[in-house]
Amino acid sequence: MRKALVAGNWKMNGSLAANRELLSALSGAIRGSDAVAVAVCPPAVYLPEVVAQLQATAIAVGGQDCSDEKAGAFTGEIAADMLREIGCQYVIVGHSERRARQREDSAWVARKFIAAQSAGLVPILCVGEQLEDREAGRTEAVVAEQLDAVLDAAGVDAFDRAVVAYEPVWAIGTGLTASPEQAAEAHAFIRNRVAERNSQVAEALRILYGGSVKADNAAGLFALPDIDGGLIGGASLDADSFIGIVNAAAARVHK
Ligand code: 13P
Repeated sequence: MRKALVAGNWKMNGSLAANRELLSALSGAIRGSDAVAVAVCPPAVYLPEVVAQLQATAIAVGGQDCSDEKAGAFTGEIAADMLREIGCQYVIVGHSERRARQREDSAWVARKFIAAQSAGLVPILCVGEQLEDREAGRTEAVVAEQLDAVLDAAGVDAFDRAVVAYEPVWAIGTGLTASPEQAAEAHAFIRNRVAERNSQVAEALRILYGGSVKADNAAGLFALPDIDGGLIGGASLDADSFIGIVNAAAARVHK
């Protein structure tokens, strides 16, 4: 049985005042549950404050990125050990916005994944195709390349301490979500790809969907067999929306 995870990726949003208000609403409404784990991933500068505010709540904290290096002359980067020390449990790696803007390739993302696990963090590995890939029938090839790079570098057993997020790039921040068929197909593809190497690891692996998830479409997505929760962008900045999504995950039938 897989416990769902709903993680809020705040991206480059927030302020001290806005974060406090959002977190007090979330921590008042979200209780520990056997059905769903909840995390928020704020911008790095806010992490200590967010960790402090969420102490003794059911909401965990994650970073949005980490360095592939342990320490040293890497201006502007943040080590996985530092995220762990400050109180993070998770870190997002390979988000499509970083693959595009920072030109992170799959080999680099794989090194970040390994660095995160070495520090005791659970990496949330993002994979997903661009619109032109989907239109050219390359969705599975793109996702396979992104996934295989990490499977090859870290080994399939590492995926028992990791989460995968399928985020079709064309669905991020656009209001478009993958249709249930498209999402189900991609998630099954990811689970099968991992199962080719280790079926037990694949069965236990949480695969989140991300891309314009809102309170009103979450239940439909989370009901699909291989979807184990969501990585939420825009809707994670609004307390009612995020709580609605968490409730949809908690209410889904256990898989
Ligand atoms: P939106 O929910 O805003 O589409 O963002 C999804 C995402 O990129 C989460 O990482």
